[in-house]
Amino acid sequence: MVGIDLAGRVALVTGGSRGLGRAAALALARAGADVAVNYVKDAKTARDTAARCEKFGVRSLAVKADVAVAADVKKLCSTVGCEFGRLDILVASAGIWKRAAIEKMTERQLAEMLDVNVKGVFFCCREAVPRMRKAGGGRIILVASTAGQRGEAFHSHYAASKGAVISLTKSLAPELAADHILVNCIAPGWFDTDMSRPSLGEPEARNQVLATIPLGRVGRPEEFAGAVLFLASELSTFITGEILNVNGGAVLVG
Ligand SMILES: NC(=O)c1ccc[n+]([C@@H]2O[C@H](COP(=O)([O-])OP(=O)(O)OC[C@H]3O[C@@H](n4cnc5c(N)ncnc54)[C@H](OP(=O)(O)O)[C@@H]3O)[C@@H](O)[C@H]2O)c1
Repeated sequence: MVGIDLAGRVALVTGGSRGLGRAAALALARAGADVAVNYVKDAKTARDTAARCEKFGVRSLAVKADVAVAADVKKLCSTVGCEFGRLDILVASAGIWKRAAIEKMTERQLAEMLDVNVKGVFFCCREAVPRMRKAGGGRIILVASTAGQRGEAFHSHYAASKGAVISLTKSLAPELAADHILVNCIAPGWFDTDMSRPSLGEPEARNQVLATIPLGRVGRPEEFAGAVLFLASELSTFITGEILNVNGGAVLVG
C-alpha cells in the first residue's frame, strides 16, 4: 500500500470542528500535517477536535471565524500564517443546508445561504492563494454536493450555491495551474453528520434517501476524509479541476 505523508505541510479546514470537516482534519493530522480547525460557534467542539489532531504528534489550533465575513477570513488566514508559517492545503468544508420552498424563500434566507456557501468559499480561496504561491504551490479542496450536480427540490438556494462551488473549481484550476496550486472539489452525497441527521432520523425519509444510493447506505465521514487525503497528497499530482463524487453511486440514480 502507498502511504500518504504530509509531514511539514500546513492545512486549514473550514468547518473543521464537526462532521465532514472534522474527519478531514483528523485524517490530515494522522498523515502528518499541522491543522488549523476553523469553526464559527462551538468553541468547545473545535478545541476538542484540535486536541485530537495533536494526539497524532502535529500542531493544531482551533480558530473562530465566520467564513461569510471577509474580515474574519483574512484574520483566520493570517493567524494560520503567524502560528504555522505557511499554508499548503485548504479544505473549504464550512457550509449550511436549509430548506425553503421557492415561493416562500425570503431574501434573508437566500443571502445567508449564498454568503456562507459561496462568498465564504471565495473569501477563503482569495486569502489562501497568495500564501500557497509563497509556499511554491498548494492544494485547494472545495466541498460541493450532489445537490450542486442534479439540483435538490425545496433546497434550490443550497443546490445553486453548490453549483457555484463546482464552477469556481473549474475556473480556479486553470487560473492557478501555473502557480502549482491544484484545485479540486469533492461532491459528497448523503453522509451521517449533524447536518443530515434530522432528515435521516425519520424512518420514511431515510428509506427514501437509501433508495437513491446504489451502495444502500449513507457515507461515514472517514470515507469523505479518504477523498480529501487523496486530493491533498502526492497521489493526485496530475489532477486539477476535478469533481470527485463520494456518494455511494447516488448521482447515477438521479
Ligand atoms: N452531511 C452531508 O450529508 C453532506 C452532503 C453533501 C454536502 N455536504 C457539505 O459538506 C460540508 C460539511 O457538512 P457537514 O455535514 O460536515 O456539516 P455540519 O455537521 O453541520 O458541520 C458544519 C461545520 O461548518 C461550520 N460552519 C457552519 N457555518 C459556518 C460559518 N459561517 N463559518 C465557519 N464555519 C461554519 C460549523 O461550525 P460550528 O460547529 O461552530 O457551528 C461546523 O464545523 C458542507 O459544505 C455541506 O454542505 C454535506
